[in-house]
Amino acid sequence: MRVLISGATGFVGRTIARHLLDAGHEVRAMSRSTGNAMTLFAKSEAGRRGLADGALTFVQADVTKPRTLLEAVAEVDVVIQTAQFSGAPVEDPKRGLTYMKVDRDGTMNLLEAIAGVYGRPPAGGRLDVPAAGLPRFLYQSGITTSANSPYTWDRAKWQAEEAVRESGCDWTIVRCCWAFGRNDTALNRIIGYSDYLPFVPVFGNGQAPLTPVFGEDIGRLYALLVDNPDRARNTTYGLGGPDLVTLDQFLHLALRAMSRARPILHIPKPLGKVQGAIMYRFPGRMLSPAAVDFVAAAGAVTHEDRGLLAERFPEFRATPVREGLESYLRRST
Ligand SMILES: NC(=O)c1ccc[n+]([C@@H]2O[C@H](COP(=O)([O-])OP(=O)(O)OC[C@H]3O[C@@H](n4cnc5c(N)ncnc54)[C@H](OP(=O)(O)O)[C@@H]3O)[C@@H](O)[C@H]2O)c1
Repeated sequence: MRVLISGATGFVGRTIARHLLDAGHEVRAMSRSTGNAMTLFAKSEAGRRGLADGALTFVQADVTKPRTLLEAVAEVDVVIQTAQFSGAPVEDPKRGLTYMKVDRDGTMNLLEAIAGVYGRPPAGGRLDVPAAGLPRFLYQSGITTSANSPYTWDRAKWQAEEAVRESGCDWTIVRCCWAFGRNDTALNRIIGYSDYLPFVPVFGNGQAPLTPVFGEDIGRLYALLVDNPDRARNTTYGLGGPDLVTLDQFLHLALRAMSRARPILHIPKPLGKVQGAIMYRFPGRMLSPAAVDFVAAAGAVTHEDRGLLAERFPEFRATPVREGLESYLRRST
Protein backbone atom coordinates (compact mmCIF):
# COMPACT_ATOMS: atom_id res chain seq x y z
CA MET A 1 0.00 0.00 0.00
CA ARG A 2 1.05 3.60 -0.52
CA VAL A 3 1.02 5.48 2.77
CA LEU A 4 1.41 9.22 3.38
CA ILE A 5 2.93 9.99 6.79
CA SER A 6 2.39 13.54 8.03
CA GLY A 7 4.99 14.22 10.72
CA ALA A 8 7.31 11.63 9.16
CA THR A 9 10.48 13.25 10.51
CA GLY A 10 9.24 13.16 14.12
CA PHE A 11 9.99 10.53 16.73
CA VAL A 12 6.69 8.72 16.21
CA GLY A 13 6.32 9.29 12.45
CA ARG A 14 9.84 8.14 11.64
CA THR A 15 9.40 4.95 13.66
CA ILE A 16 6.12 4.20 11.90
CA ALA A 17 7.77 4.86 8.51
CA ARG A 18 10.57 2.41 9.29
CA HIS A 19 8.13 -0.33 10.24
CA LEU A 20 5.96 0.23 7.18
CA LEU A 21 9.00 0.09 4.88
CA ASP A 22 10.11 -3.13 6.59
CA ALA A 23 6.61 -4.53 6.00
CA GLY A 24 6.93 -3.82 2.26
CA HIS A 25 4.75 -0.70 1.95
CA GLU A 26 5.49 2.45 -0.03
CA VAL A 27 5.98 5.46 2.23
CA ARG A 28 5.52 9.08 1.18
CA ALA A 29 7.19 11.06 3.96
CA MET A 30 5.81 14.54 4.46
CA SER A 31 7.92 17.35 5.87
CA ARG A 32 8.23 21.11 5.66
CA SER A 33 11.79 20.43 4.51
CA THR A 34 12.30 17.43 2.26
CA GLY A 35 16.08 17.99 2.30
CA ASN A 36 16.15 17.63 6.06
CA ALA A 37 13.80 14.63 5.88
CA MET A 38 16.03 12.86 3.36
CA THR A 39 19.10 13.38 5.54
CA LEU A 40 17.28 11.97 8.57
CA PHE A 41 15.97 8.91 6.76
CA ALA A 42 19.35 8.19 5.20
CA LYS A 43 20.58 7.44 8.74
CA SER A 44 18.45 4.32 9.09
CA GLU A 45 18.86 1.00 7.30
CA ALA A 46 15.18 0.95 6.28
CA GLY A 47 15.45 4.56 5.05
CA ARG A 48 18.53 3.85 2.91
CA ARG A 49 16.88 0.75 1.45
CA GLY A 50 13.67 2.69 0.74
CA LEU A 51 15.61 5.47 -0.96
CA ALA A 52 17.51 2.94 -3.08
CA ASP A 53 14.49 0.90 -4.22
CA GLY A 54 12.05 3.82 -4.54
CA ALA A 55 9.71 2.66 -1.77
CA LEU A 56 10.46 5.88 0.15
CA THR A 57 9.57 9.22 -1.41
CA PHE A 58 9.17 12.71 0.03
CA VAL A 59 6.66 15.50 -0.28
CA GLN A 60 7.12 19.04 0.96
CA ALA A 61 3.97 20.31 2.68
CA ASP A 62 2.77 22.19 5.74
CA VAL A 63 -0.44 21.22 7.55
CA THR A 64 -1.17 24.89 8.25
CA LYS A 65 -1.04 25.70 4.49
CA PRO A 66 -3.98 23.86 2.93
CA ARG A 67 -2.89 24.27 -0.69
CA THR A 68 0.39 22.47 -0.06
CA LEU A 69 -1.53 19.37 1.05
CA LEU A 70 -3.29 18.52 -2.21
CA GLU A 71 -0.23 16.92 -3.81
CA ALA A 72 0.62 15.19 -0.53
CA VAL A 73 -2.67 13.31 -0.16
CA ALA A 74 -3.13 12.43 -3.86
CA GLU A 75 -2.94 8.77 -4.92
CA VAL A 76 -2.42 7.20 -1.52
CA ASP A 77 -4.26 4.35 0.18
CA VAL A 78 -3.64 5.49 3.74
CA VAL A 79 -2.90 8.82 5.44
CA ILE A 80 -1.25 8.73 8.87
CA GLN A 81 -1.33 12.01 10.77
CA THR A 82 1.34 12.44 13.46
CA ALA A 83 2.35 16.11 12.94
CA GLN A 84 2.47 18.35 15.98
CA PHE A 85 3.74 21.90 16.36
CA SER A 86 7.46 22.53 16.63
CA GLY A 87 8.57 23.09 20.21
CA ALA A 88 5.68 21.14 21.80
CA PRO A 89 4.62 21.32 24.58
CA VAL A 90 5.69 24.99 24.77
CA GLU A 91 3.19 26.94 22.68
CA ASP A 92 4.11 30.16 20.88
CA PRO A 93 0.84 31.71 19.63
CA LYS A 94 2.58 34.65 17.93
CA ARG A 95 4.32 32.21 15.58
CA GLY A 96 1.22 30.02 15.14
CA LEU A 97 2.82 27.21 17.11
CA THR A 98 -0.12 25.91 19.14
CA TYR A 99 -2.07 22.70 19.66
CA MET A 100 -5.15 24.27 18.09
CA LYS A 101 -3.42 25.74 15.05
CA VAL A 102 -1.17 22.80 14.10
CA ASP A 103 -2.45 19.62 15.79
CA ARG A 104 -6.20 20.31 15.44
CA ASP A 105 -6.48 22.63 12.43
CA GLY A 106 -3.65 20.79 10.66
CA THR A 107 -5.61 17.53 10.95
CA MET A 108 -8.73 19.25 9.67
CA ASN A 109 -6.75 20.71 6.75
CA LEU A 110 -5.52 17.24 5.81
CA LEU A 111 -9.11 15.96 5.84
CA GLU A 112 -10.20 18.92 3.72
CA ALA A 113 -7.42 18.18 1.24
CA ILE A 114 -8.62 14.57 1.00
CA ALA A 115 -12.16 15.79 0.31
CA GLY A 116 -10.77 18.21 -2.29
CA VAL A 117 -8.79 15.55 -4.11
CA TYR A 118 -11.09 12.52 -3.84
CA GLY A 119 -14.50 14.20 -3.53
CA ARG A 120 -16.73 14.47 -0.51
CA PRO A 121 -18.79 11.53 0.66
CA PRO A 122 -22.44 12.00 -0.37
CA ALA A 123 -24.44 14.17 2.03
CA GLY A 124 -26.50 12.02 4.36
CA GLY A 125 -24.24 9.04 3.66
CA ARG A 126 -23.73 6.78 6.66
CA LEU A 127 -20.53 7.70 8.45
CA ASP A 128 -19.88 4.07 9.40
CA VAL A 129 -19.79 3.18 5.71
CA PRO A 130 -16.65 4.78 4.27
CA ALA A 131 -17.01 6.41 0.88
CA ALA A 132 -15.37 4.35 -1.85
CA GLY A 133 -12.03 5.63 -3.05
CA LEU A 134 -11.16 7.74 -0.02
CA PRO A 135 -7.87 6.88 1.66
CA ARG A 136 -8.05 5.47 5.14
CA PHE A 137 -7.08 7.96 7.85
CA LEU A 138 -5.03 6.92 10.91
CA TYR A 139 -4.70 9.58 13.58
CA GLN A 140 -2.11 9.63 16.35
CA SER A 141 -3.86 11.05 19.41
CA GLY A 142 -3.06 11.18 23.12
CA ILE A 143 -4.24 8.96 25.98
CA THR A 144 -5.76 11.83 28.02
CA THR A 145 -7.76 13.28 25.11
CA SER A 146 -11.21 14.47 26.13
CA ALA A 147 -13.81 17.06 25.18
CA ASN A 148 -13.95 18.90 28.49
CA SER A 149 -10.40 18.66 29.73
CA PRO A 150 -8.97 21.82 31.31
CA TYR A 151 -5.92 21.33 29.12
CA THR A 152 -5.76 22.72 25.60
CA TRP A 153 -3.78 19.71 24.26
CA ASP A 154 -6.55 17.31 25.28
CA ARG A 155 -9.28 19.47 23.76
CA ALA A 156 -7.31 20.08 20.53
CA LYS A 157 -6.81 16.34 20.04
CA TRP A 158 -10.47 15.65 20.88
CA GLN A 159 -11.65 18.17 18.28
CA ALA A 160 -9.24 16.68 15.74
CA GLU A 161 -10.59 13.21 16.58
CA GLU A 162 -14.15 14.42 16.04
CA ALA A 163 -13.22 15.74 12.60
CA VAL A 164 -11.58 12.38 11.77
CA ARG A 165 -14.64 10.42 12.92
CA GLU A 166 -16.94 12.60 10.82
CA SER A 167 -14.73 12.73 7.72
CA GLY A 168 -16.32 9.87 5.82
CA CYS A 169 -12.91 8.18 5.63
CA ASP A 170 -12.41 4.75 7.09
CA TRP A 171 -10.58 5.85 10.27
CA THR A 172 -8.50 4.56 13.15
CA ILE A 173 -7.43 6.60 16.17
CA VAL A 174 -4.51 5.59 18.38
CA ARG A 175 -4.56 7.30 21.78
CA CYS A 176 -0.99 6.90 22.79
CA CYS A 177 0.72 7.10 26.19
CA TRP A 178 4.13 8.68 26.80
CA ALA A 179 6.42 7.13 24.21
CA PHE A 180 10.11 6.49 24.81
CA GLY A 181 12.97 5.34 22.61
CA ARG A 182 16.37 6.20 21.21
CA ASN A 183 15.20 9.39 19.48
CA ASP A 184 12.48 10.63 21.81
CA THR A 185 12.61 14.24 22.95
CA ALA A 186 11.02 13.92 26.41
CA LEU A 187 12.59 11.09 28.43
CA ASN A 188 16.00 11.63 26.81
CA ARG A 189 15.91 15.29 27.84
CA ILE A 190 15.01 14.52 31.46
CA ILE A 191 17.56 11.76 31.98
CA GLY A 192 20.07 13.86 30.02
CA TYR A 193 20.28 16.13 33.08
CA SER A 194 22.12 13.29 34.79
CA ASP A 195 25.04 13.94 32.42
CA TYR A 196 25.94 17.06 34.36
CA LEU A 197 23.79 17.24 37.51
CA PRO A 198 24.03 15.08 40.64
CA PHE A 199 20.20 14.77 40.61
CA VAL A 200 17.36 14.62 38.08
CA PRO A 201 14.81 17.45 38.39
CA VAL A 202 11.10 16.82 37.70
CA PHE A 203 7.98 18.93 38.19
CA GLY A 204 5.38 17.70 40.67
CA ASN A 205 5.57 14.90 43.19
CA GLY A 206 6.64 12.19 40.74
CA GLN A 207 3.63 10.03 41.59
CA ALA A 208 1.70 10.46 38.34
CA PRO A 209 0.67 6.99 37.09
CA LEU A 210 1.96 6.13 33.63
CA THR A 211 1.99 3.21 31.22
CA PRO A 212 4.89 4.34 29.01
CA VAL A 213 5.06 2.74 25.59
CA PHE A 214 8.22 1.74 23.75
CA GLY A 215 8.45 3.66 20.45
CA GLU A 216 9.08 0.50 18.40
CA ASP A 217 5.71 -0.83 19.60
CA ILE A 218 3.98 2.17 18.04
CA GLY A 219 5.63 1.34 14.72
CA ARG A 220 4.63 -2.32 15.05
CA LEU A 221 1.02 -1.45 15.86
CA TYR A 222 0.65 0.94 12.91
CA ALA A 223 2.06 -1.72 10.57
CA LEU A 224 -0.64 -4.10 11.86
CA LEU A 225 -3.32 -1.42 11.48
CA VAL A 226 -2.28 -0.68 7.89
CA ASP A 227 -2.21 -4.39 7.02
CA ASN A 228 -5.55 -5.22 8.63
CA PRO A 229 -8.22 -2.69 7.62
CA ASP A 230 -11.05 -4.87 8.90
CA ARG A 231 -9.64 -5.04 12.40
CA ALA A 232 -8.65 -1.36 12.41
CA ARG A 233 -11.83 0.12 10.94
CA ASN A 234 -13.53 3.00 12.77
CA THR A 235 -12.01 2.15 16.12
CA THR A 236 -10.21 4.10 18.83
CA TYR A 237 -7.37 2.18 20.46
CA GLY A 238 -5.59 3.15 23.68
CA LEU A 239 -1.91 2.25 23.42
CA GLY A 240 0.38 1.92 26.43
CA GLY A 241 3.07 -0.38 27.70
CA PRO A 242 2.37 -3.40 29.93
CA ASP A 243 3.77 -1.79 33.12
CA LEU A 244 1.97 0.70 35.34
CA VAL A 245 4.63 2.88 36.97
CA THR A 246 4.89 6.27 38.61
CA LEU A 247 6.98 8.97 36.96
CA ASP A 248 9.66 8.44 39.63
CA GLN A 249 9.75 4.69 39.01
CA PHE A 250 9.99 5.26 35.26
CA LEU A 251 12.95 7.61 35.68
CA HIS A 252 14.70 5.26 38.13
CA LEU A 253 14.31 2.40 35.64
CA ALA A 254 15.82 4.58 32.91
CA LEU A 255 18.73 5.61 35.14
CA ARG A 256 19.30 2.01 36.18
CA ALA A 257 19.44 0.99 32.52
CA MET A 258 22.23 3.58 32.17
CA SER A 259 23.93 2.18 35.31
CA ARG A 260 23.46 5.51 37.05
CA ALA A 261 22.13 6.28 40.50
CA ARG A 262 20.69 9.78 40.95
CA PRO A 263 18.14 11.11 43.41
CA ILE A 264 15.09 12.75 41.86
CA LEU A 265 14.54 16.37 42.83
CA HIS A 266 10.83 17.24 42.92
CA ILE A 267 10.11 20.83 41.99
CA PRO A 268 6.62 21.81 43.23
CA LYS A 269 4.42 22.71 40.27
CA PRO A 270 3.71 26.31 41.43
CA LEU A 271 7.46 26.93 41.60
CA GLY A 272 7.90 25.23 38.22
CA LYS A 273 5.31 27.57 36.73
CA VAL A 274 7.21 30.62 37.97
CA GLN A 275 10.31 29.13 36.36
CA GLY A 276 8.25 28.49 33.22
CA ALA A 277 7.01 32.08 33.09
CA ILE A 278 10.57 33.37 33.32
CA MET A 279 12.04 30.93 30.78
CA TYR A 280 9.21 31.69 28.35
CA ARG A 281 10.55 35.24 28.02
CA PHE A 282 13.97 34.08 26.84
CA PRO A 283 14.89 33.11 23.26
CA GLY A 284 14.25 29.46 22.53
CA ARG A 285 11.27 29.38 24.94
CA MET A 286 12.40 26.19 26.69
CA LEU A 287 9.49 26.17 29.14
CA SER A 288 6.10 27.74 29.83
CA PRO A 289 3.70 27.48 32.79
CA ALA A 290 1.32 25.25 30.78
CA ALA A 291 4.18 22.96 29.74
CA VAL A 292 4.82 22.26 33.45
CA ASP A 293 1.30 20.79 33.70
CA PHE A 294 1.93 18.78 30.54
CA VAL A 295 5.13 17.14 31.70
CA ALA A 296 3.79 16.36 35.19
CA ALA A 297 0.53 14.85 33.92
CA ALA A 298 -0.63 11.27 34.41
CA GLY A 299 -1.30 9.08 31.39
CA ALA A 300 -2.20 5.42 31.58
CA VAL A 301 -4.26 2.96 29.56
CA THR A 302 -7.28 1.25 31.12
CA HIS A 303 -8.14 -2.47 31.31
CA GLU A 304 -10.67 -1.80 28.54
CA ASP A 305 -7.94 -0.32 26.32
CA ARG A 306 -5.74 -3.35 26.86
CA GLY A 307 -8.66 -5.74 26.38
CA LEU A 308 -9.72 -4.23 23.05
CA LEU A 309 -6.20 -4.32 21.63
CA ALA A 310 -5.62 -7.90 22.85
CA GLU A 311 -8.94 -9.05 21.38
CA ARG A 312 -8.45 -7.45 17.96
CA PHE A 313 -4.66 -7.87 17.67
CA PRO A 314 -3.66 -10.90 19.76
CA GLU A 315 -0.35 -11.00 17.88
CA PHE A 316 0.62 -7.57 19.26
CA ARG A 317 2.85 -7.64 22.33
CA ALA A 318 3.83 -4.40 24.06
CA THR A 319 7.40 -4.38 25.34
CA PRO A 320 7.98 -4.24 29.13
CA VAL A 321 9.40 -0.86 30.17
CA ARG A 322 12.67 -2.27 31.51
CA GLU A 323 13.29 -4.32 28.35
CA GLY A 324 12.56 -1.30 26.12
CA LEU A 325 14.83 1.03 28.10
CA GLU A 326 17.70 -1.46 28.24
CA SER A 327 17.56 -2.02 24.49
CA TYR A 328 18.99 1.44 23.83
CA LEU A 329 20.18 2.94 27.15
CA ARG A 330 22.45 0.19 28.43
CA ARG A 331 26.02 1.49 28.57
CA SER A 332 29.24 -0.23 29.41
CA THR A 333 30.30 2.41 31.99
N1 LIG B 1 6.11 11.36 21.79
C1 LIG B 1 5.21 10.98 22.69
O1 LIG B 1 5.51 10.57 23.82
C2 LIG B 1 3.74 11.01 22.32
C3 LIG B 1 2.80 10.42 23.18
C4 LIG B 1 1.46 10.48 22.85
C5 LIG B 1 1.05 11.10 21.67
N2 LIG B 1 1.99 11.67 20.88
C6 LIG B 1 1.54 12.35 19.66
O2 LIG B 1 2.21 11.78 18.56
C7 LIG B 1 2.42 12.77 17.57
C8 LIG B 1 3.88 12.78 17.17
O3 LIG B 1 4.68 13.07 18.29
P1 LIG B 1 6.26 13.13 18.15
O4 LIG B 1 6.80 13.01 19.51
O5 LIG B 1 6.69 12.20 17.07
O6 LIG B 1 6.44 14.63 17.63
P2 LIG B 1 7.77 15.32 17.06
O7 LIG B 1 8.96 14.44 17.22
O8 LIG B 1 7.81 16.69 17.65
O9 LIG B 1 7.49 15.46 15.49
C9 LIG B 1 6.60 16.41 15.02
C10 LIG B 1 6.49 16.28 13.51
O10 LIG B 1 5.51 17.23 13.06
C11 LIG B 1 5.98 17.84 11.87
N3 LIG B 1 5.43 19.18 11.77
C12 LIG B 1 5.52 20.19 12.67
N4 LIG B 1 4.87 21.27 12.22
C13 LIG B 1 4.35 20.92 11.00
C14 LIG B 1 3.57 21.62 10.03
N5 LIG B 1 3.17 22.87 10.21
N6 LIG B 1 3.24 20.96 8.90
C15 LIG B 1 3.64 19.68 8.70
N7 LIG B 1 4.37 18.97 9.57
C16 LIG B 1 4.72 19.59 10.71
C17 LIG B 1 7.50 17.84 11.97
O11 LIG B 1 8.00 17.73 10.65
P3 LIG B 1 8.96 18.78 9.91
O12 LIG B 1 9.63 19.62 10.96
O13 LIG B 1 9.92 17.89 9.15
O14 LIG B 1 8.06 19.55 9.01
C18 LIG B 1 7.77 16.54 12.74
O15 LIG B 1 7.93 15.49 11.83
C19 LIG B 1 1.94 14.10 18.17
O16 LIG B 1 0.62 14.35 17.75
C20 LIG B 1 1.94 13.81 19.67
O17 LIG B 1 1.02 14.60 20.38
C21 LIG B 1 3.33 11.63 21.16
